[in-house]
Amino acid sequence: MGIHLKKSMRMALYVATMWMACAHQGQPTLKQAFEKDFLVGAALNEKQVTGVDSAAAALVVQQFNSITPENLLKWEAVHPLPEQYQFEPADRFVDFGIKNGMFPIGHTLVWHSQTPKWVFEGRPGKPADREILLGRMRDHILTVVGRYKGRIRGWDVVNEAFEDDGTMRKSPWLKIIGQDYIQKAFEFAAEADSSAELYYNDYNLWKPEKAAAAIRLVKDLKAKGVRVDGIGEQAHWALDYPTLKEAEAAIASFEASGINVLITEMDISVCPNPWNYTGAEIERSFELQKKLNPYPETLPDSVQQSLATRYAEFFALFHRHAGTVNRVTFWGVHDGQSWLNYWPVRGRTNYPLLFDRQCKPKPAFEAVIETARAK
Ligand code: GLA
Repeated sequence: MGIHLKKSMRMALYVATMWMACAHQGQPTLKQAFEKDFLVGAALNEKQVTGVDSAAAALVVQQFNSITPENLLKWEAVHPLPEQYQFEPADRFVDFGIKNGMFPIGHTLVWHSQTPKWVFEGRPGKPADREILLGRMRDHILTVVGRYKGRIRGWDVVNEAFEDDGTMRKSPWLKIIGQDYIQKAFEFAAEADSSAELYYNDYNLWKPEKAAAAIRLVKDLKAKGVRVDGIGEQAHWALDYPTLKEAEAAIASFEASGINVLITEMDISVCPNPWNYTGAEIERSFELQKKLNPYPETLPDSVQQSLATRYAEFFALFHRHAGTVNRVTFWGVHDGQSWLNYWPVRGRTNYPLLFDRQCKPKPAFEAVIETARAK
């Protein structure tokens, strides 16, 4: 009994120490600050879900009330071969969310990227036909959504179906099945779990043509009696785009159409956009490499401050539209984890999130919390 008590006391002490190490001088956490407004989420990788990265896992439990798997539920991860599903990492993700009372999101069911080649293949050398691909889509959605029925609370059903000009992306899904592939995906998802929220997810929705296309899609599906619960706006943004006005116009247009918005993959890059340079130039020029990776060691205070101001402006915007914006999810927990360290240029040091590489809150964190106070 004595030993037992000591053990549990040790455990309580450990938890309290962890908590104090993470608590930020009496600051409310993100989920507390916005609890009346929207959910606040983060995308998790496998190490975080399994607790190998215990510092990040503790931070997630402390700060967030929704989680999205960064890669674990993408087709190539969960269903790499026709007869093979790999559920173990995704199971851990869902268990982690449920255990901690969170709102787990499934990402993503139908996408042109990170989907194995076999999905689109028919007889040797030939593409699959409509019936085959629809059959595979249905099997995949029923199996994956069905497995987490009642536990994964919202799904990015279709990801990135539009080009920036609002035309449909000529993905294998469109080419093989035709325009109704999106409708089918939503129908299968609703069939698999009638209680999960179902979203259409895309990037650059601050571009008016693309926002308009997403709105048309959702209205059209609803008119056909197909359930869509919201538009996921990825929000991979930067210090210099979009303007606040552009971001607000998009949210206002969804709001005017009565469509809920989920900010699903937010990060703000502080590194220059490389798109103006050609690949060859990037490989060749050392000077250019330095220009594209301006802060390899640490982020200067002035940029840290610009990032904080940007985050504060966007959170004030989400806050103004809290009746429409139902969730804000960051694409990662801390800067060290972000995909922006290796995309679109490999080996950069980027600083796009609210927590630094040691899981410490940055000025941007304080600025975001402040927007909740300034109600
Ligand atoms: C898109 C996808 C995400 C992720 C990011 C980059 O936004 O929706 O799953 O792959 O790109 O990490």
